[in-house]
Amino acid sequence: MAASVVPATPGSIARAAALLRSGQLVAFPTETVYGLGGDATNDAAVAAIFAAKGRPRFNPLIVHVPGLGEAEAIAVFDERARAVARRCWPGPLTLVLRRRPDSGVSLLACAGLDTVAVRAPAHPVAQALLRDAGRALAAPSANRSGRVSPTTAAHVAAELRSGAALILDGGACAVGIESTVVDLTAPRPVMLRSGGVTVEQLATVLGRIAETVGEPVPPRAPGQLPSHYAPRLKLRLDAADAQPAEALLAFGPDVPAGFAAVLNLSERGDLAEAAANLFAMLRRLDRREFSGIAAMPIPERGLGRAINDRLRRAAAPRRSPRFS
Ligand code: TXA
Ligand code: MG
Repeated sequence: MAASVVPATPGSIARAAALLRSGQLVAFPTETVYGLGGDATNDAAVAAIFAAKGRPRFNPLIVHVPGLGEAEAIAVFDERARAVARRCWPGPLTLVLRRRPDSGVSLLACAGLDTVAVRAPAHPVAQALLRDAGRALAAPSANRSGRVSPTTAAHVAAELRSGAALILDGGACAVGIESTVVDLTAPRPVMLRSGGVTVEQLATVLGRIAETVGEPVPPRAPGQLPSHYAPRLKLRLDAADAQPAEALLAFGPDVPAGFAAVLNLSERGDLAEAAANLFAMLRRLDRREFSGIAAMPIPERGLGRAINDRLRRAAAPRRSPRFS
């Protein structure tokens, strides 16, 4: 059964909330990327999320809530965690905290860990859905495991042919890359995934933040796997000139000539605009008529760090299927 895409309206959001309460899955927009949501307190719903994504492993999922009040019923907040949440929520920030023993959240959603990742998304459709559903929603990005995250409802429909009972269409995601994941379970905050909130923004509340480098064993976040967010075509970074039949993912006003196709992340060199375009443009260039995708260099500051992180992982050697 192919999932139906419906415009997000109060009526369709109410229908989606009822489906979620009955244990079904709904794809919905957030300001970062589209999520595939299920009742976080329902093990069967959480298991269905893993099945729909074809995840090779039970990686822990982000538990979405409307705000800090609901988050405090799930995770243990200290003053530092509250301060960050007040500054950045609702918004593209996920906090990893100790799970409350009485949280009610499915252990499968937390991969059996005694920690939980929580986030209050800013998108009005996500907010309305969470409030209507009246429960926390486990929601990874609504793509097949290891693939580019969806930033439109059409991407979700192409990725997940079945699995979601409904796809709520709330337009293109404004941020376009996933939330920043920060682990606050130790005295020193650790950034597990760069994303929509920048280190510079976090540093104003948290001070110095350690960044995980390389591949921790075992990986704590799937976004930390070297090959992730991958298009099917080979991706080449820091490209300056063209190879035959190659497509270019450009950035800024000075675009080299000779490419078979060019999509510009941001002609004016704006990193927020580039982040919002990243996954959609990678998808549009991922076509068998091209020999590969070349990406121009992106400055390593602000949201540029998160963009470069995604591009490096998309370019990493891998064994996943290409066009056959
Ligand atoms: O922007 C986003 O965060 C999107 C939207 C839908 O909210 N969601 C998303 O979820 O990207 P997902 O499942 O694709 O990524 C969740 C990230 C992973 O890197 C995961 O390993 C990490 O959060 N994570 C979740 N729970 C964790 C935990 N208890 N400890 C450490 N990392 C955790
Ligand atoms: Mg993902």
